[in-house]
Amino acid sequence: MKEKCLVFLLCAVCAFCVNLTVFFSKKNCDPKCTFENQNATSKTIGSFPTECSTVCSFLRITEDTDLTEAQLASTFLNMKRLLGGVIVISTKFKSGSFLAGLEAIECDDLDVMWALNNQMLELGLTNLTSISCAGFQVVSNKKLNKLNMPNLKNITLNEFPEPTDKAMKFSIDSGSPDFCITVEEMENFITADNATVDEIYGKYCPPTTTENLCTSPNICQKVFGNVEIGPNSNLDTMKSIEIIFGSLIINETNLTDFNFLENLKYVAQLTKDKSAIIVQNNPFLLNISFPKLKRVRSDNFHTVVFTKNNQNLSLDVNSCFKLKSDLGITSDWSPTFNGDNCDSMNRTAISIERSKSSGYQCSSIFIIVLVVIAIF
Ligand SMILES: *[C@@H]1O[C@H](CO)[C@@H](O)[C@H](O)[C@H]1NC(C)=O
Ligand SMILES: *[C@@H]1O[C@H](CO)[C@@H](O)[C@H](O)[C@H]1NC(C)=O
Ligand SMILES: *[C@@H]1O[C@H](CO)[C@@H](O)[C@H](O)[C@H]1NC(C)=O
Ligand SMILES: *[C@@H]1O[C@H](CO)[C@@H](O)[C@H](O)[C@H]1NC(C)=O
Ligand SMILES: *[C@@H]1O[C@H](CO)[C@@H](O)[C@H](O)[C@H]1NC(C)=O
Ligand SMILES: *[C@@H]1O[C@H](CO)[C@@H](O)[C@H](O)[C@H]1NC(C)=O
Ligand SMILES: *[C@@H]1O[C@H](CO)[C@@H](O)[C@H](O)[C@H]1NC(C)=O
Ligand SMILES: *[C@@H]1O[C@H](CO)[C@@H](O)[C@H](O)[C@H]1NC(C)=O
Ligand SMILES: *[C@@H]1O[C@H](CO)[C@@H](O)[C@H](O)[C@H]1NC(C)=O
Ligand SMILES: *[C@@H]1O[C@H](CO)[C@@H](O)[C@H](O)[C@H]1NC(C)=O
Repeated sequence: MKEKCLVFLLCAVCAFCVNLTVFFSKKNCDPKCTFENQNATSKTIGSFPTECSTVCSFLRITEDTDLTEAQLASTFLNMKRLLGGVIVISTKFKSGSFLAGLEAIECDDLDVMWALNNQMLELGLTNLTSISCAGFQVVSNKKLNKLNMPNLKNITLNEFPEPTDKAMKFSIDSGSPDFCITVEEMENFITADNATVDEIYGKYCPPTTTENLCTSPNICQKVFGNVEIGPNSNLDTMKSIEIIFGSLIINETNLTDFNFLENLKYVAQLTKDKSAIIVQNNPFLLNISFPKLKRVRSDNFHTVVFTKNNQNLSLDVNSCFKLKSDLGITSDWSPTFNGDNCDSMNRTAISIERSKSSGYQCSSIFIIVLVVIAIF
């Protein structure tokens, strides 16, 4: 992870060299609302367009930013939409709430980044609802306890992406062991079709339960904690589950399929080394399709693990590949059946086919030999 951070930082440094002239003209930026000088310092801040609600700039707030949080807050008071991007790096600020009025960020092919702010406790982007960037990175901020970014729901890839980019990438990894993500924030991220959540690390903040959000073993639409389904579980109650902030464990049942999980769409496990879905000891399980499941997230690569179920599942190569593609899993490590991933199941299946057909050849040669012997 450390090396990755360094790569991110280098990329971000390169981003400063980017010439945004073309992007600003594509976005029809008003020259009066463009902050050409991207560094926010006491020398440059006088030319910041404080009256504009839409500002075009790639804002840099760094160790050179010799302004207080209050000065920044009053400078950015009217800015609701930022076209270009923003980076907050190596500052001593306690909160990023000087950008609290910001509602939308639309980037050129760049990442928004918060890094190495070692006094910062929260981002505090409480009004931010839309982001359209290549990535959103929050890395190596030593004391960061929370994001406090509850309204960021509209997450899309930047308008003019690299052809290889398919999704906006979240990289969130605080330096603080106390760092937590709220279930609402995770829900916003994982339900965004075009955002990746595999590199979000932390733990869940203790949630506030509501009618729709309950703590396992209670079951409702949104369940916090692991949902364990065993031989005596009431399957009817499981119908209501849409999202699990924890793991789904199906263990020692006589189930043949997962049709009872008729509304389950997301499983988001943050705990270190915990798989998102564990299916174990279900001897009659034959159909492994989840009716509506769209995406799972876990800290390790083994997101979905099947062990010691019906033997035939280990031969069902197509179901393995189908589940993998339904869940948009790109790593080679998942799903697995008794430790084998889809590719190794495929290889086994092919070699079984081969030995079968060579078996037939052998036996037919044997029969011919018998026939020949019988004739003579
Ligand atoms: C940025 O690009 C535009 C158009 O390609 C060019 O006219 C301008 O001089 C460049 N600005 C800088 C600072 O390189
Ligand atoms: C912004 O600050 C960096 C150093 O932190 C400097 O290299 C760069 O030239 C500055 N950019 C402008 C436009 O002044
Ligand atoms: C955030 O939005 C609310 C509602 O529109 C508004 O009242 C509040 O002033 C905004 N916060 C900031 C810091 O601009
Ligand atoms: C979502 O974000 C996109 C891109 O920034 C914007 O065009 C769109 O209007 C936003 N939608 C909502 C509902 O805010
Ligand atoms: C997500 O990206 C795909 C292409 O990769 C696109 O077809 C789809 O419309 C995007 N969805 C959203 C919600 O942006
Ligand atoms: C599961 O099937 C086994 C064998 O058919 C049976 O003995 C057992 O009672 C069943 N368990 C449940 C919970 O239905
Ligand atoms: C399944 O149940 C068995 C017996 O109750 C237990 O030993 C095992 O740890 C359980 N598996 C999981 C994944 O919880
Ligand atoms: C498996 O279950 C899914 C629904 O979850 C259903 O659409 C599919 O037809 C079933 N497959 C088989 C082979 O029965
Ligand atoms: C496994 O598949 C074979 C061949 O398709 C079938 O004969 C057998 O009954 C299946 N076993 C179970 C436990 O379903
Ligand atoms: C299974 O393996 C064969 C032979 O290597 C390959 O052609 C085929 O594409 C594989 N199936 C899938 C779904 O990857």
